[in-house]
Amino acid sequence: MIYSKLRPHLVRHSLVSLHGQLVPKHGVLSVPSSRFYSHQESLPNLPVPTLQQTLDKYLKTVTPLVNESEFNHTQKLVQEFGKANGIGEKLQELLLQHADKKENWLSDWWLDEAYLKSRASVVIHCSPSVSFPKYKFSGVKGQVEQAAKVVAAILDYKVNIDNETLPVEMLSGKPLCMDQYYRILSSCRIPGVEKDGSRCYARSWRPPRHITVIYKNKYFELEVYNRDRTPLTIRQLETQLSRIVTATNGMPHSDPVGILTSEDRDTWGSAYQTLMEDRQNQASLRSIQRSIFALCLDERLSKVSENRWRSDMAGRCLHGGGSQYNTGNRWFDKTVQMIVDQDGGVGLAYEHSPAEGPPIAALLDHVYKYCDEPITQPRSSILSLPHPKFLPFNIKEDTKVRIEHASMKVDSLINNLTIEVLNFKDFGKDFIKSQKLSPDSFFQIALQLAYYTLHNKPPATYESASLRRFRLGRTDTIRSCSSTSQAFTEAVVSGKSSVQDLAAKLRDAVAAHRAYTVCAVSGNGIDRHLLGLRLIATKSGLETPDIYNDPTYKKAMSFNLSTSQVPCKADLCMAFGPAVNEGYGVCYNPKNNKILVSISVFNTIPEYNTVKFKNTLISSLQRMKDILVAASPKL
Ligand code: COA
Repeated sequence: MIYSKLRPHLVRHSLVSLHGQLVPKHGVLSVPSSRFYSHQESLPNLPVPTLQQTLDKYLKTVTPLVNESEFNHTQKLVQEFGKANGIGEKLQELLLQHADKKENWLSDWWLDEAYLKSRASVVIHCSPSVSFPKYKFSGVKGQVEQAAKVVAAILDYKVNIDNETLPVEMLSGKPLCMDQYYRILSSCRIPGVEKDGSRCYARSWRPPRHITVIYKNKYFELEVYNRDRTPLTIRQLETQLSRIVTATNGMPHSDPVGILTSEDRDTWGSAYQTLMEDRQNQASLRSIQRSIFALCLDERLSKVSENRWRSDMAGRCLHGGGSQYNTGNRWFDKTVQMIVDQDGGVGLAYEHSPAEGPPIAALLDHVYKYCDEPITQPRSSILSLPHPKFLPFNIKEDTKVRIEHASMKVDSLINNLTIEVLNFKDFGKDFIKSQKLSPDSFFQIALQLAYYTLHNKPPATYESASLRRFRLGRTDTIRSCSSTSQAFTEAVVSGKSSVQDLAAKLRDAVAAHRAYTVCAVSGNGIDRHLLGLRLIATKSGLETPDIYNDPTYKKAMSFNLSTSQVPCKADLCMAFGPAVNEGYGVCYNPKNNKILVSISVFNTIPEYNTVKFKNTLISSLQRMKDILVAASPKL
């Protein structure tokens, strides 16, 4: 199918970006703007790997995670599954037939399985946050001034989205699919029972011209374009946001209806149906869903010490701090929620279903740069601006009860989470590259070492691998734990190996990780292929094969380390929750001379502790550097 056939109406502006072209996260960038669709059409389709390759790799990746008898059992199941004319070959054939008919055989299934059918709360379990370094502004006036710049920055970025002139992002010299960049604004998740929906209004016949502003749990529709279609200037935005603050201060308290969006999806889906029975609620909900993004003006919290500020801010962006603080001042279904507090804090929470971290990082790098470099804007009138529109909700008694339940549930979820942000300054990508090693792989092996040091066993590990070399590509998994990483971590912890031996094992482990990465980003990972085979069995009315009910498979899917690299030019730090109780969520932004890392845990098992993990990660990184330096030939 030709990509352009899928393309609905397109809106074009004749504006130019005030900041000119952007340079996205990897920095290496094509000439400004080949047009979006011609670029998209040039991208290859996602391949389906061969069955035997996936099964061989699967056995290799589970080796460090299971004992000998478990492995032998799994090996038998895999042999049975993969035998000539067996069920594996049948499913592979069906999957190839499915792939023949699709632009991307995986992307719709992945959207459903990973996101829309998931019934867990999006808060902590799915939606990541990003926090900016601390600004100097304070108080409501400072908050409004900063928020006006943030809104102006996003509208400036949006010009390139509307004109389809965003520069093409590159990874390892290859151009990537840009589809996700065009889905992050004007979009929203729609709650449902059993399955949610996902809508993007950017390419509708009448694309939205407003944002949602949330202040003291109240919702406002703020038109952000003048009649002549120019975006409101910073001065105009300040005026409009101040009007919202003044209007809100004269209003009675509102039930925090937004806290319902933190519920598990079935509960929220059913509460949503009730809300939608009321016409006024319907109009308010539609306005929020269609808006370009949400701006959350947060209330002041109790003071946090300077050295905890970054970790605290990462948490507040992720979940709002609790029902007594700002968790009700959100709409967690909104793809982009910008957060500005009253004490120098700026950040974002984003609903993950339409996009991975890199498009969000590119948007935020632009916001950061724009806010940092004041620009000259044309003089603008504030007299003719229409007043922001209050979005009322009629909340009946049963919805009030639901709001109370949702508040209790989200508070206990938040209390069960700890986040720690590490600004590791000893070295960054430059040192690792000087050792002719991949920085990402080196960092992943440091995570393996930290985990093994603390827990004395190798962790099932998930690292996101981009599949965006392919049209409509999302992600596969890099399984960072391997027999070679295990050999290295065991050798370090046993303390019996020479430094030369350790250096050789470290280089092997990094090389094995890099090789897995290259396979995964080329469409030859195993996780999405195994998922595809399982789903095609279900969709064809066949029984789920035994390899999926094997305890080894379950172990391999319970990720003790759920990790992702999200590089940003600025010192921004993405954070997300862990996948399991016995595990950590780790997101990192490697810079030339430092690495920003967020670490999260659920507080259910005392051995899983962010401070311990942070300290062990620091010593692991330092130890690995020492090993390489000590083992290198002295000149
Ligand atoms: N010697 C010297 N330099 C090396 C090297 C080596 N052996 N191996 C790599 N490098 C260099 C690279 O050329 C690159 O240089 P650059 O900074 O000039 O671009 C740099 O080191 C970084 O490379 P590396 O650390 O290997 O990582 P990567 O950029 O290839 O990224 C992944 C690896 C897995 C993060 C990437 O492939 C990916 O998939 N990213 C998307 C993840 C994602 O979607 N996350 C969000 C999920 S919400």
